[in-house]
Amino acid sequence: MMNFHILTLFPEMVLQGLNTSIIGRAVDKGYISIEAVNIRDYTLDKHGKVDDYTYGGGAGMLMQAQPVYDACMAVQDRIMAGNGASKARVIYVTPQGKTFHQELAQELAREEELIFLCGHYEGIDERVLEEVVTDEISIGDYVLTGGELPAMVMIDAIARLVPGVLHNTDSAVTESFYDGLLEYPQYSRPEIWHDKRVPPVLLCGDHAKVDAWRLEQSVLRTKERRPDLYEAYMDRMSRETCRGRK
Ligand code: ADE
Repeated sequence: MMNFHILTLFPEMVLQGLNTSIIGRAVDKGYISIEAVNIRDYTLDKHGKVDDYTYGGGAGMLMQAQPVYDACMAVQDRIMAGNGASKARVIYVTPQGKTFHQELAQELAREEELIFLCGHYEGIDERVLEEVVTDEISIGDYVLTGGELPAMVMIDAIARLVPGVLHNTDSAVTESFYDGLLEYPQYSRPEIWHDKRVPPVLLCGDHAKVDAWRLEQSVLRTKERRPDLYEAYMDRMSRETCRGRK
């Protein structure tokens, strides 16, 4: 069981997206839980304000420290009351963070509780980030209007690695990136479509042959489409061969 907590000004946005399809089913079945906490509920401003102009001037509004801090502390207190001790990691979703990738998803999937802090507007007052954030993560070198979509991307990638979330436990192992290779091409019925035939080896019933063909296709595809991953794969293979010889 893994519990995700999302601090956001737009809770309905993340809940709508994440309560659908495979992740929605995982919530229904109790493999994961997803809670969206509205930062606005924690403001002490009597008009419900959560943002203000930036000191020093410049365009846009900044999310203020107080509501973000109080929302985060409220979630941490609940988590600590539940598990008796430890605080959860707090991930600030920002283009300034380190880039998200599959190994980081695997690392985060081992946590029991994760808090995602989503900024909006021009960002969040630096002082509260210094006090509550443990990890800053970006989903890539482009700028979005808020942290909600990146948080949803990361939660999807992490949640599908939680045991039980995917029906077929193999599929998290064989697909793209698990062993550093891209996935092989796949085919379903009919056997011939638009004059294109399914590769005959897949119809031969010899599992060893099928596996060998798929690995070969994965390697070829990776070499063609992602030379960076191919090089890393070849380096790993040659290191393993050397170790085997000793
Ligand atoms: N917020 C805005 N753009 C982002 C990005 N690329 N990754 C993470 N958070 C963001």
